[in-house]
Amino acid sequence: MIYQGNAITVAKNGEGIARLTFDLKDESVNKLSAAVIEELGEAVKALQGESDLQGLVIDSAKEVFIVGADITEFHGVFEKDEAFLVEMNQRVHAIFNAIEDLPFPTVTAINGIALGGGCEVALTTDYRVMADSARLGLPETKLGILPGWGGCVRLPRLIGADNAIEWIAGGTENKAAAALKMGAVDAVVPGDQLEDAALDLLARAARGELDYRARRAEKTSPLKLGPIEQMMAFETAKGYVAGKAGPHYPAPVESIKVIQKGAGESRERAQAIEAKAFAKLAKTDVCFNLVGLFLNDQLVKKKAGKYAQQVAPIRQAAVLGAGIMGGGIAYQSASKGTPILMKDIKEEALELGLKEARKLFAKQAERGKLTTEQMAEKLSHIRPTLSYGDFGHVDLVVEAVVENPKVKEAVLTELEDQVDEKTILTSNTSTISIDRLAQNLKRPENFCGMHFFNPVHRMPLVEVIRGEKTSDTAVAATVAYARAMGKTPIVVNDCPGFLVNRVLFPYFGGFSLLMKQGADFQRVDKLMEKFGWPMGPAYLLDVVGMDTAVHAGEVMAEGFPERMGSLGGGAKGESQSAIQLMFENDRLGQKNAKGFYAYEEDKKGKPKKVVDEAAIALVKEVAKEHRELSDEEIIARMMVPLCLETVRCLEDGIVGSAAEADMALIYGIGFPPFRGGALRYIDALGVAEFVAQAERLAEELGPLYAPTETLRRMAADGSRFYA
Ligand SMILES: NC(=O)c1ccc[n+]([C@@H]2O[C@H](COP(=O)([O-])OP(=O)(O)OC[C@H]3O[C@@H](n4cnc5c(N)ncnc54)[C@H](O)[C@@H]3O)[C@@H](O)[C@H]2O)c1
Repeated sequence: MIYQGNAITVAKNGEGIARLTFDLKDESVNKLSAAVIEELGEAVKALQGESDLQGLVIDSAKEVFIVGADITEFHGVFEKDEAFLVEMNQRVHAIFNAIEDLPFPTVTAINGIALGGGCEVALTTDYRVMADSARLGLPETKLGILPGWGGCVRLPRLIGADNAIEWIAGGTENKAAAALKMGAVDAVVPGDQLEDAALDLLARAARGELDYRARRAEKTSPLKLGPIEQMMAFETAKGYVAGKAGPHYPAPVESIKVIQKGAGESRERAQAIEAKAFAKLAKTDVCFNLVGLFLNDQLVKKKAGKYAQQVAPIRQAAVLGAGIMGGGIAYQSASKGTPILMKDIKEEALELGLKEARKLFAKQAERGKLTTEQMAEKLSHIRPTLSYGDFGHVDLVVEAVVENPKVKEAVLTELEDQVDEKTILTSNTSTISIDRLAQNLKRPENFCGMHFFNPVHRMPLVEVIRGEKTSDTAVAATVAYARAMGKTPIVVNDCPGFLVNRVLFPYFGGFSLLMKQGADFQRVDKLMEKFGWPMGPAYLLDVVGMDTAVHAGEVMAEGFPERMGSLGGGAKGESQSAIQLMFENDRLGQKNAKGFYAYEEDKKGKPKKVVDEAAIALVKEVAKEHRELSDEEIIARMMVPLCLETVRCLEDGIVGSAAEADMALIYGIGFPPFRGGALRYIDALGVAEFVAQAERLAEELGPLYAPTETLRRMAADGSRFYA
């Protein structure tokens, strides 16, 4: 044994081959915390101290190679100043360079995931062998930073600037075959042959069959690029990546600049450029929020994992209703491998549902993700039916019939008689109280909400709604099914609108008030899109549908009359909202091609929005005044009600934690991810500043804007939602 630490051991065999093995104590994966990096430094010193070594293998004793740096340390470390961060990365560079400079050939055996810092460790050695199931990549830009441990320097020298830009700016996780093709690794073998392959490479290098010094020189000297190549690789890429990432995400373009600036430099100078750019990005709000998002996502997934462990997996599911949602649910279930019965009362509906599913599978096949046989097999997992014949063997049913409480109640009671005592029943209702739907059930403990978002195959969130009588088993089974479908479930308690719609409708309320004050809805849309929303509120209302919005608004108004009293639209005349007026004029949105905008079909047959003067004239009818509002005032009028309702949901125990609330908004309604969620947004503004803003607005616009007592107290004592 040459070295023994908590995470790293270095041993030597009879032929003088050293093996540096990552195996972090008491953890299921290897990650590079500050302590592990410290150990790596010591391990390398130990290697340098040996006089008779012939080669080095770096490997892992876990299923993964190294998942990356320890992201839980980021917020604490990134608080330090830029000089500290530069210095920190330079220390890591010194360690990694020392590995790269060892006086004998070196190889990394990548047995599983090697991401971020894990990939950068692998890049230090002369050779890399990779298990066919492993993944290699540098996803740092997704966290608002860039590879800071030499990735921006070594990867372009190894696989070329253009390929490296794709990996780094895109933050991709790459399969073994792709890594081999690009030259990122030297061999791909089945996992059980990895060790032999690594030793074989070293032996060939020792015999002089492979010139490891030449290999090393390539990786440590400047990139050889002519001016035209420079232009092609960097300038074109910057333009393309900037367009794709958008103005709120600077890291991808910065990473290209770093590769470019370092291209003609020595290893050390290129690394200094990388360290400086890293430190700058690490200090941005975007990075802070994206790191927070990653941690929240981990927390949410861990919670769901704990639920799922408590129950057996769902083997057979069923969905009632083959409409937009039912069809989507059937597709998603079948696509991820849980067979599903799809029942409707109309043959045409079943045909339509199947047609949609077939279309989605065909798209996957076109993209090469499925073979024709796989597609046929997956499609056969959806069994359309008009009867309850096979419902006796179903583990979980999702009810997705029309949004009408009487119809749903009738359907659920009928269903309960057709299934086993243990079958879990769920409803995909968007507004109706789960307790109300449970009222006539014989086994209300087996019932809960399972709220998907449209389109089901694309939206990651599923709200699992616990009613008063819902059992833990029902919640756990529903969470397990949502996970099996590849979704992120978040458990919430029952209330009008549950979490996501309860928060969304006050945002629409803010929009309606703006219309009453004479704001231009196209300007509001543009502003909110610039703020980071995937679509502005008027456009979003067109997508949701005015009938749905009015109906749900009524439910919200009934549930929270004091602050949402007129969300359903209010009476004709004085208090009528723009949404209500659209609805009354049969401008339902995308579904009938006219709402706040008009819709035409584009070349691909998708609805394309165009300006419609008739809509503009109509909205003017609700304007009671013509206030000149600044961009900031408009944003506050939209965001404050949404943020306040999120706070209330947390205070009322509808959602369990700030992390879950924020993730639900990001995954459910596309809250701008780089802002981290509504509560993170309040923290960023400062609770006191937010409360002051809300109080000002409440005076003018009423209770929709009034901060809660707890929030006022938080402002006074300086506390925040995230520590
Ligand atoms: N569309 C959305 O954006 C969205 C989002 C989340 C939740 N939801 C909810 O999902 C549910 C379904 O909405 P949708 O948009 O898919 O509606 P839809 O009108 O497209 O589909 C409803 C389907 O249910 C069928 N149906 C009616 N009675 C039935 C019965 N007794 N047994 C079996 N099938 C029956 C209808 O024939 C129709 O095919 C609603 O509760 C809705 O609120 C919708």
